[in-house]
Amino acid sequence: MTTIAKLKEKKVAGEKLTCLTAYDASFAALVDEAGVEIILVGDSLGMVVQGKETTLPVTLDEMIYHASAVKRGAPAAFVVVDLPFMSYPNPEIALKHAGKVMKRSGANMVKLEGGQAVLESVKLMAEHGIPVCAHLGLLPQSVHKTSGYKVQGKSDSEAERILNDAIALESAGADLLVLECVPAELAKTISERLTIPTIGIGAGVDCDGQVLVLYDMLNVTKGKRPKFSKDYLSGQPSVLNALENYVAEVKSGKFPGLEHSF
Ligand code: KIV
Repeated sequence: MTTIAKLKEKKVAGEKLTCLTAYDASFAALVDEAGVEIILVGDSLGMVVQGKETTLPVTLDEMIYHASAVKRGAPAAFVVVDLPFMSYPNPEIALKHAGKVMKRSGANMVKLEGGQAVLESVKLMAEHGIPVCAHLGLLPQSVHKTSGYKVQGKSDSEAERILNDAIALESAGADLLVLECVPAELAKTISERLTIPTIGIGAGVDCDGQVLVLYDMLNVTKGKRPKFSKDYLSGQPSVLNALENYVAEVKSGKFPGLEHSF
């Protein structure tokens, strides 16, 4: 069974960590069977399951509904659940909503987006025994503020801000950090600097682990596949084979290649 301690041990040992999103019991069971260590019930479900333009409309009850299904499908899996947009506007409300997610779905960890703005929330949740995954770089819940889905941390000042946020989030008590769409060099620096594992998506091969949106890597998402993803189903006889191939390529360092990085 995956635990935070085991994830940290693997980082120290240099073993790459695998993570995929899942939103229902059947896929969660397959992802778990393939040996993926972390299942993320991402609010990306708003886009890939509900067909919405962004993740912003997703509600806390919808996250709990999907996370409960995932836990039923993969009871022994380490399940991380996104706190949706505006469900953590201050530390007290963040704590209340994170507690609700943990109690009702059986999740192992919650995830929230942002740096300085969420530090006190991360601290309060950690003090109450709620494991937290932070998320820096491209923040899909802030897509309107950032005017689109763009690589973050390209300038020296932005890179420094993201590095400082990462250090502050670890100090506040975060146990895991997702880095989305940042230059590979920056993700490498952050991963070397932190003791908690980093999980990259569009953040290069030097993160401690990788995550992809399940429907992107099975190439069933409508529209163009993002540059940082890869079609793992192509040429494979089954979904399980595709998932096992993803695990093998992340563990060996074959994925992500330079063509998937910024
Ligand atoms: O919602 C999600 O699926 C995510 C991943 C893109 C990391 O946050």
